[in-house]
Amino acid sequence: MPDRPADEEIFGHDPLTGRATGGRVGTLEWRLSPEGTINHPDGSAFTADELRVLGTGIDWLGDRRPDEVPVDEIDLGQGSTWLHDEREVFFRRLRQELPVSRQCGIPFLAGTTDWDWWAVTRHADIMEVSRHPELFASGRGGTNIGDIPDELAEFLGSIINMDAPRHTKIRRLISTGFTPRQIANLEETIARRAKAIVDAIAGQGECDVVRDIAAPLPLQVICDMMGIPPEDEQRMFELSNVILGFGDPEYVLTVGDLVNAGMELFQYGLQLAEQRLREPRDDIATALVHAEVDGERLTPSELGSFFVLLVVAGNETTRTAISHGIWALTQFPDERQKWLADPQGVGHGAVEEIVRWASPVIHFRRTATADTELGGQRIAEGDRVVMLYLSGNRDSAVFDEPDRFDVTRTPNDHVAFGAGGPHFCLGANLARREIRIMFDELLARLPTIAVTGEPDRLRSAFINGIKRMPAEFTPAG
Ligand code: HEM
Repeated sequence: MPDRPADEEIFGHDPLTGRATGGRVGTLEWRLSPEGTINHPDGSAFTADELRVLGTGIDWLGDRRPDEVPVDEIDLGQGSTWLHDEREVFFRRLRQELPVSRQCGIPFLAGTTDWDWWAVTRHADIMEVSRHPELFASGRGGTNIGDIPDELAEFLGSIINMDAPRHTKIRRLISTGFTPRQIANLEETIARRAKAIVDAIAGQGECDVVRDIAAPLPLQVICDMMGIPPEDEQRMFELSNVILGFGDPEYVLTVGDLVNAGMELFQYGLQLAEQRLREPRDDIATALVHAEVDGERLTPSELGSFFVLLVVAGNETTRTAISHGIWALTQFPDERQKWLADPQGVGHGAVEEIVRWASPVIHFRRTATADTELGGQRIAEGDRVVMLYLSGNRDSAVFDEPDRFDVTRTPNDHVAFGAGGPHFCLGANLARREIRIMFDELLARLPTIAVTGEPDRLRSAFINGIKRMPAEFTPAG
């Protein structure tokens, strides 16, 4: 890791874990109590109980079948709901019977049962929310179900938690790192990386899909983009797992863990920005710190925050898509045959279908800026409105046979990268290229690759992740 930046101070360390217990980064002060409580400078504090991740919550379904419970009993506020294989049945019923429903509680977080939110399950309503940022804001309380203080929201979420005009300005600056030319420049590196990943397992005949195939590529690509040395890649991997692993005790136990991981990434990004200002290199980090739009530049701190978003947004999402893609080809062998028979003709559409099928990001939230109506429900100013992309991508009003994986599906207006509007995924084209190149390599060299056991799924209401998944294939050279 690089040295700590000059404008950061650590107030103390936990003698057992060595973890920082409080500090200051720029103007942001924070303190972590031994129980994992975090106190913000605006005076707000969470209790340890609120912070501790609460396993799975109550299993309200009991012995009932998911299609026989009254629709208004479907409780998306409980972590247990997100662990049910029948999750898709709940969404289907909500789309049909109660498309915008009132929910209580943040899944996997104790002490939050009085936090209300609206679950938006239909494709059309998700589009409505996403395309009206003036009515549904990103900069009030953040974009996940639980509120985070505004100061922390921008600090850890960068543009994803901003509204116009600040969002427009910072996104324009950041977009200089994502031009078609920049992405084209990365192609060769992505192809080289994908080949090396397959080389490493080709002779073995078996592997873990996530560890050996899906996780390394997006991680290496982000590190290549930002000029991060190979010895730091593993730490980036661990930190992004923590941030997106909220809900899963394998990665996160308290909100304090989450904030610590964000802080560490921020500091890394800040340091990187300062280095590239002093010593420009041929990487996107350098392009970003020197980019100028209308006489404005990103400050090192803004780049630090964007770095957190980039590492988090670019990693686990693409990893999840690749993992689900391999699983889908196992479940739908005819679709694999179609792709193998015509890689050039089918590849583009197959990637879109993988992204729809996987829906790696389950939700993003907005906050209503005025009283309004959505899907027949009255929404009040300040209400949390949660777009469930995973549900929108199975909406039969838009997709024929939505539960079928179909590599030739046209049209395929999925909302996995967002449903339009100013926050549409900035890395969508990069992700598409990574997935395409990885599958071109896999299908050419390990065409029989198939999942052989149950995937070990991430406990999360945010990322539709897979942690581990075994696969076998005919060994190749
Ligand atoms: C299959 C992979 C991916 C999926 C499913 C995905 C999904 C999403 C979604 C749903 C959003 C929010 C859209 C909205 O609110 O309208 C988003 C935003 C974003 N994504 Fe992605 N993403 C993926 C890959 C990537 C990659 C590879 C990068 C960068 C390397 C990236 C960078 C971003 C950024 C910077 C934003 C914030 C844009 C803004 O707020 O203006 N994403 N992504």
